[in-house]
Amino acid sequence: MAHKKAMERLQQLRAEAMQGGGDARIEAQHAKGKLTARERMELLFDAGSFEELGQMVTHRSTLFGLDKQTYLGDGVVTGYGQIHGRTVYAFAQDFTVLGGSLAEAHAEKICRILDLAVQNGCPVIGLNDSGGARIQEGVVSLGGYADIFYRNTRASGVIPQLSLIMGPCAGGAVYSPALTDFIGMVQGSSYMFVTGPNVVKTVTHEEVSSEDLGGASAHATKSGVTHFTYVNERTAIEGFKQLLSYLPQNCEDGVPHLAYSGGDEIRSRLNTVIPESAQQPYDMREVIDELVDAESFLEVHKEFAENMVVGFARLAGRSIGIIANQPAYLAGVLDIHASTKGGRFVRFCDAFQIPLLVLEDVPGFLPGTDQEWNGIITNGAKLLYAFAEATVPRITVITRKAYGGAYDVMNSKHIGADMNYAWPSAEIAVMGAKGAAEIIFKKDISTAQDPAATWAEKESEYAEAFAHPYRAAARGYVDEVIEPSQTRNKLIRAFGMLENKVAHNPKRKHGNIPL
Ligand code: HXC
Repeated sequence: MAHKKAMERLQQLRAEAMQGGGDARIEAQHAKGKLTARERMELLFDAGSFEELGQMVTHRSTLFGLDKQTYLGDGVVTGYGQIHGRTVYAFAQDFTVLGGSLAEAHAEKICRILDLAVQNGCPVIGLNDSGGARIQEGVVSLGGYADIFYRNTRASGVIPQLSLIMGPCAGGAVYSPALTDFIGMVQGSSYMFVTGPNVVKTVTHEEVSSEDLGGASAHATKSGVTHFTYVNERTAIEGFKQLLSYLPQNCEDGVPHLAYSGGDEIRSRLNTVIPESAQQPYDMREVIDELVDAESFLEVHKEFAENMVVGFARLAGRSIGIIANQPAYLAGVLDIHASTKGGRFVRFCDAFQIPLLVLEDVPGFLPGTDQEWNGIITNGAKLLYAFAEATVPRITVITRKAYGGAYDVMNSKHIGADMNYAWPSAEIAVMGAKGAAEIIFKKDISTAQDPAATWAEKESEYAEAFAHPYRAAARGYVDEVIEPSQTRNKLIRAFGMLENKVAHNPKRKHGNIPL
């Protein structure tokens, strides 16, 4: 072909690829308040940095009318570019092309992106908007999904993998996002479920809408499937870019380290945050905000298991992961959801060398048949296992209660924490003084002339003996009892001291976390 004609052909094909499924379908996408795959990629990457790969790929199937419906790119835009100056790979499913459905060629393009991301040690972001397995292509669509699942699993812990759900994500398709590290959903326009409302109605006779079954709110509050929800696509993409700024490029890269000039390390406000009564709640987020660099706390899983607060922050410019009991919700008790939420976050941070800060105020594990029958034993063990296995720098600050098994589980030095600080208000004991007195002085109380007065007297006796941090400090379980206002300063120094920590778990194929 003559040069000029060849150039024209290229321009024509490029223009065709940019059109996706055509103007009418693009309009329909916009009418639903959704952006197209290409518009999403534009927002995701630094201006002008996106390099598309596989733009001319097409499907090979000719069945069920597909011979007349060939689209360049096969319904997924793939490539790499820069986000805040760092290389990131991404794919965006194009709902305007055959409903973004996934089949052989579409899957091959995603697999190539995952392979490149792993090979070159960069994060990968998937923008999901798809009707699922392309029905016309049959089993190759299922094979394509499995090829992706396999790669998601092998990439786990090697590079950060993030999934944004911006439309339908149903059936087995949900398992690719589920295998990645973080999921974000857009309110009102995205949903995820293994079986949709119609099947649910047939099988269980429940009537439920897509939104109620698998919308952003359901997964943020009930299932915990999504870590983040966003009001629209623009804030979703901005949110993911912000998330990425806390993460290393890969498991060997080391955490991002922003310039930090110091100053303002003493936080007097922390001296008054603990209420006078040990039964009174306070908001652990206030403590976090005082400890970390200004406005740097990015909460993960905010609406799920609110008795546990987890998220990323910066301390003296360096990324850290925070796991904190929340006394303002269910008194900060550990239950099944809080344990799995905390455990998963600990494992992500450990896999990517992000140091861990634990803020502890926990009255113990939640009692009851619901918790026992649903497996608080196995699920609580996940959090314990995750901490015990983590080799990143780990520091605990006990702000108030550290009772019972929860004292051990919440990153105690016995399970490998590097440093454990306690505030003077810390109570480190097998249980609260009231309950303890009732058990060990049962006889004295029941035979007393005034049982209530005796109980109160024994309670204060027990509290005097144990409701403080000094017995633990005397044993070295607590390294130092510190004034709350000094905590930020202590943490900056201690994490600095631990910066070159080297620790390894015993050689083995892999451990057996109680799943
Ligand atoms: C082929 C599909 C498709 C699919 C949608 N389309 N899903 N084509 N395979 N899976 C096409 C439609 O035919 C239509 O084409 C266009 O995409 C837009 O779809 P609409 O239905 O018009 O859009 P909307 O009303 O927004 O509804 C979206 C939807 C619906 C809810 C996703 O399309 C739907 O229910 N699709 C089928 C979903 C499904 O059952 N997928 C298989 C899941 S099982 P035209 O040409 O008319 O514009 C699965 C297994 C994975 O995925 C297993 C992995 C292990």
